[in-house]
This record gives sequence, C-alpha cells and structure tokens, in this order.
Amino acid sequence: MLLDRVEKVFDVRKKTGFLKRERRQVRAVDSLSFSVARGEMVGYIGPNGAGKSTTIKMLTGILTPSGGRLRVAGIDPTRERMRLAHRIGVVFGQRTTLWWDLPLLDSYRLMHRMYRIPDARYRANLDRLVELLDLGDLLDTPVRQLSLGQRMRGDIAAALLHDPEVLYLDEPTIGLDVISKTRVRDFLRELNAERATTVLLTTHDLQDIEQLCSRVMVIDHGRLMYDGPLAGLHRAGESERTLVVDLEREVPPIDAPAPARVVRVEGPRQWLAFPAAESAAPLVARIAAQYPLVDLSVREPDIETVIAKMYAERAGQADQREAAAQDASAAGDVSAAGDAGDASKGRDEGVGRVVS
Ligand SMILES: Nc1ncnc2c1ncn2[C@@H]1O[C@H](COP(=O)(O)OP(=O)(O)OP(=O)(O)O)[C@@H](O)[C@H]1O
Ligand SMILES: [Mg+2]
Repeated sequence: MLLDRVEKVFDVRKKTGFLKRERRQVRAVDSLSFSVARGEMVGYIGPNGAGKSTTIKMLTGILTPSGGRLRVAGIDPTRERMRLAHRIGVVFGQRTTLWWDLPLLDSYRLMHRMYRIPDARYRANLDRLVELLDLGDLLDTPVRQLSLGQRMRGDIAAALLHDPEVLYLDEPTIGLDVISKTRVRDFLRELNAERATTVLLTTHDLQDIEQLCSRVMVIDHGRLMYDGPLAGLHRAGESERTLVVDLEREVPPIDAPAPARVVRVEGPRQWLAFPAAESAAPLVARIAAQYPLVDLSVREPDIETVIAKMYAERAGQADQREAAAQDASAAGDVSAAGDAGDASKGRDEGVGRVVS
C-alpha cells in the first residue's frame, strides 16, 4: 500500500442565511504520504474529523483523491475499483455490509456469488471463519436480530470470505464490550500470523493498537503527524514519567533539579514528574543521598494521556496559526501569517519522530 502526496478536498455548501449559501472547501486529507508493507499491522489514529475514514475510502476506491498517487496491491483504486475489490476487505464499524433482513449465512452466500469465490475455497474459508469468530449458532439469524458484537464478527467474516490480502478496519471495536473486543483482537492477531494479511486499523480505543500494532500512524487535519512504534509516541508527546518516593517521615517538598519537580505530597509519600525520555537514575541517586528514602517506584505515562496531550497541542498550534493569520490579515500584513506558520513548523520538527 503506497500513498504519495495524496489529497482530498471536499466542496461543501453551507447555508449562511435566507437563500444565501457559502461555498467552502474542506481539505480532509492533505499531502499524505506513507507506505505499508505486506503483512504489516498498522494502527491509524487521530481525533474526530482528522481524515481517517476519508483515507480508507480512497484506499478502497469509494472516493477519488483530488491529487497525489495511490496504489494498493499494485492497483490504482480509482481506475480499477472492481479488480481491487477482490484483493481487499473492508469493515466499517459504524455500518454493516450485510443484508439486514437476511440470515447471516444468506449474506455469505451472496458474497460467494458476487466475488465469484471458488466453491471449495468458499467452504474452507467459511468453516474457518465460523470457527474462529464463533458464528456457528448465528448463521440462521437475520442480521437485524444480532447484537452489535455478533454483527461485527459477522461483518469481519464477510470481509474475509474472498481471502483478501489487505484488510481495512474502520473502528471495528466501537461499542463492543470487553469480551467481544478481546475476541475480535485475538482473531485479528491470528489472521495476521496465519495469512500475513496486511491490516490498517482505525480505532479510538488505544488498547486495540497496543495489543495489535507494532506501528502506529497519527493523523490530524489530514496530515501525518507521527509514524513509528507506539512507544515512540511517549517521546513525541514530550510526556513525563512519575517517580513515587516513600520517605521515612514527612518532609517539605523535595528540592529536585529542574525540570524534575514535586507534583504531589501525601504524608511521607511524594510524587515527582520528570521527562519520560530521561533516565530516573540521577534523580533517584540525588534523593537517596539527601533524604531518608525507604522505597520508590517509577510510573510510565499511559498512552491515552500522551495522545490526548498530543492532540491538544496540535489543536493549540492550529488555533495559534489561525489567530496569527487573522491578526495578519486584519493588519493587511501577509508575511506575519507566513512567519507564524513557519514557527509552528519548527516546533513540529523538534518533537521526536513526528512527521512535519
Ligand atoms: N462527503 C463529505 N463531504 C464533505 N466533507 C466531508 C465528507 N466526508 C468527510 N468530510 C470532512 O472531512 C474531514 C475528515 O473526515 P473523516 O470522516 O475522514 O474523519 P475521521 O478521521 O474518520 O473522523 P472520526 O474519528 O470522527 O471518524 C471532516 O472535516 C469531515 O467533515
Ligand atoms: Mg471515521
């Protein structure tokens, strides 16, 4: 899968008053470049409206890019959508591709015909998927009578009956309970190991990513903000770890070398925040030398906090850019807006593996 400076611009008409409409352009995907190798399982995350679903729709051929180059399994999705359909599977968690009023098995039979899957292969795949996704008791049930978790498993099976080499999952665990989520994750892990299926996974549940993906891409405002291992996001988010120390007795807040600092004191226990990228050893040594230390532990930042912080920082930067642009246009000074843009770009580059 390869994207080279892919763009998607939507023309939207907004009603601004009686008989008045304003035409506006939304740049949902903005010069997006990345590649995913065969058999990779990649998380694709970002805040609401970031452009994730738009990307997936372009990768399936549902939407045509406004610019750039796109290839999936060597195929241009726009020009050969039908040929591509045989090579990819898609699950949109928000809506089903199954026939609502038909029993699950009838939907599968229809797919068997639609995709012209050879009989033996269809039967082997169906057996395997029914077993792995535990669908045996549900095959005769009309889709509308299935619970959300059952329906999702049914949808995942439907996406895989024709043995696609690439699977796009757009929020496949949305609304599922913990047990159903675990089941779906176990299945995806097995599928990937067994068939080397390439998986692009969009989700707002970071545990999906933590448990399945060694690589994660973060997108915001249609742009790639980060591409790398999940652990690297800690660094990109400039997050902090926490050193928790237990002292023999209550003392005033520990005098720690900046940027480390005490963030909480409770009796003889104190919490110190320090940069996640730095070793705790010097800080521990210093405290041990100067204070009656009894015990200590280091807490890693949880990934939710890191990403929330990252999204918030991006939003802040966008606001600043917008404000600067407005100031500049009010003053009739265009160069100031350019400067503000450059300044924030400089900040982007300073943060770990963040893509600028
Ligand atoms: N068909 C469309 N017409 C106009 N604008 C659209 C259309 N589809 C998406 N957009 C806009 O493009 C942007 C990206 O939307 P997209 O659905 O790709 O986001 P997303 O990352 O999937 O978000 P979410 O996490 O909420 O699912 C949004 O601003 C959205 O309003
Ligand atoms: Mg979406």
